Amino acid sequence: MEFFLNGGTALTEDELAAVGDVHGRRVLQLACSVGDEALMFAQRGAAVTAVDIAPAHLMTGRAKAEALGVDVAFIEQDMTRLDPEITGFDVIYISWGGICWVPDITEWMQLVADRLNPGGVLVISEHHPLWEILTVRGENALSVNGDYFDNGRDGYADPLKAPQITQTIGTPDVPHRSFVWSISSIVTGVLAAGLTLRSLQEYAESEMYPGLGEQAMHIPGTYLLTASR
Ligand SMILES: C[S@@+](CC[C@H](N)C(=O)[O-])C[C@H]1O[C@@H](n2cnc3c(N)ncnc32)[C@H](O)[C@@H]1O
Repeated sequence: MEFFLNGGTALTEDELAAVGDVHGRRVLQLACSVGDEALMFAQRGAAVTAVDIAPAHLMTGRAKAEALGVDVAFIEQDMTRLDPEITGFDVIYISWGGICWVPDITEWMQLVADRLNPGGVLVISEHHPLWEILTVRGENALSVNGDYFDNGRDGYADPLKAPQITQTIGTPDVPHRSFVWSISSIVTGVLAAGLTLRSLQEYAESEMYPGLGEQAMHIPGTYLLTASR
């Protein structure tokens, strides 16, 4: 709370640039969790709708919004089946650990594209799919624990990452089944939905590969994609 009250932001400079000026714009955050980013958009003057499937997370988000005195519509929704009235957005945003819950990227991209206003932007700031399938075994040692080319075929539960993810999400009622969406499947989904790809960046994030050493800076940890309707 102190962080937010002192003007802190849950977004990086590049994410802020991708989203653009949100003042007076309608923003939808998907898989918003406890709402940190949604609150930040609201603090910057956006009309924000934030959806998540976990009621406990939404309650936390609402409590934070009340304490901060900002208005965010926290709505319990499955982001793969949004109600028809959740539409007409200038920005749709999803980040960190959201896309891995989508079982069909083509269908989902179309659903998202349909909820954007003409000229509206989709911003995805996510864990890199390569990171999803790699596990650090020691300095400069990685093992492959998933299939980069799975593209939603089976989904998987990494035995090393799953307990950590379940702990983070804290919702045993949402079964953990991750889907790996390769960069090419994401781009293809964007284009198939009729969106225009504006930018795609990949970033090294050494803290995502703890114990790997310097080599962590030579592989991608995250990506940031912007597309417009
Ligand atoms: C790792 S968290 C996202 C964290 C968020 N990006 C942030 O930085 O605060 C993933 C969220 O996805 C939500 N989730 C999982 N499946 C979902 C679905 N089908 N529809 C909506 N939310 C979903 C979970 O409840 C959880 O809050």
